[in-house]
Amino acid sequence: MHQDVAKVLLDEPTIQAKVRELAARLSEDYQGKCPVLICILKGAFIFTADLMRHLTIPTRVDFMAISSYGNRTRSSGVVQILKDLDRSIEGEHVVVVEDIIDSGLTLTYLQENLWSRRPASLRSCVLLDKPSRREVPFTPDYLGFQVPDEFVVGYGLDYAGLYRQLPYIGVLKPEVYQKHS
Ligand code: PRP
Repeated sequence: MHQDVAKVLLDEPTIQAKVRELAARLSEDYQGKCPVLICILKGAFIFTADLMRHLTIPTRVDFMAISSYGNRTRSSGVVQILKDLDRSIEGEHVVVVEDIIDSGLTLTYLQENLWSRRPASLRSCVLLDKPSRREVPFTPDYLGFQVPDEFVVGYGLDYAGLYRQLPYIGVLKPEVYQKHS
């Protein structure tokens, strides 16, 4: 285990089994279709890559990057697009892939923004949910795990850009983020 991690919340086999389960559900639900996975950078890139490798249906991937909540008021709900999709999603079956839903502001914004582009359908696939942090109601269509309100890192999730490469999801030691705040 990494020295900055206090405990492992979800180990690698547990995550991988869930990813396979979600991919199996998507493959069944989108049988005969070719959905576009929209990976929300950066946190979702590892989950998206693993999920995609287990799909048994044809699929495309595209990427969006949106501003983080770092220096602005969370409750504003204003999300800035830093990198937009490369292709139109008009008439496409779209699945937004996220690593985590917290306040729900990002996915609420994305849902409204993406629906305005006239996809044939739009669903969300989210690995982690912190329901206790929700500020606006949002229920992912496909969900991996509910997690408590702790500082989680790994499997794409970062602190200050670090720890994304950990194969498990762990709770960061408080002294790691307290010394920077
Ligand atoms: C995380 C996560 C979601 C968002 C969820 O991204 O990937 O996009 O926060 O939070 P919300 O439900 O409160 O809107 P983050 O801003 O950490 O950026 P990153 O993915 O590039 O690490």
